[in-house]
Amino acid sequence: MISAKMQAAINAQINAEMWSAYLYLAMSNDAAHKGLKGVSHWFRKQYDEEMVHAFKFASYLQSQMAKVELKPIAKVDTEWSNVVKMFEQTIAHEKKVTSLIVALCDQAAKEKDYATSNMLQWYVNEQIEEEETAQGILDALNMIGDDKAAFYMFDKELGTR
Ligand code: FEO
Repeated sequence: MISAKMQAAINAQINAEMWSAYLYLAMSNDAAHKGLKGVSHWFRKQYDEEMVHAFKFASYLQSQMAKVELKPIAKVDTEWSNVVKMFEQTIAHEKKVTSLIVALCDQAAKEKDYATSNMLQWYVNEQIEEEETAQGILDALNMIGDDKAAFYMFDKELGTR
């Protein structure tokens, strides 16, 4: 069994993961609207990943006989002026998610909840990857600058994810 406080904290994180999914789905839709098929595909895949993160937390709660509570998902932006802005927001958001995961780790440590600490290690590693990937894409975009041919190749490359 996990504490009521931990159950509430994990339920809040499920909501945060679903909000992330919603954010990336909105970016995918906006990219599709702008004719950027590869970028749209990349964010659609990112949506899938966030839903996996949410479901993993839900499965964990269920394995601990704890209740999953789905809360309303807050509104997200629906339009970005360019792809750089999308990835800047992605990185900022992933850093925020990392801090939420760290707060959950702190709570688990405080409660000596070793099962939850162990489960959270997967997310700690996942966040390293999430931040690194988004930063790598933003670095590539900054190198591309105004080069239309390079941007075309970049969009194609993201479509292979
Ligand atoms: Fe679920 Fe992108 O963090």
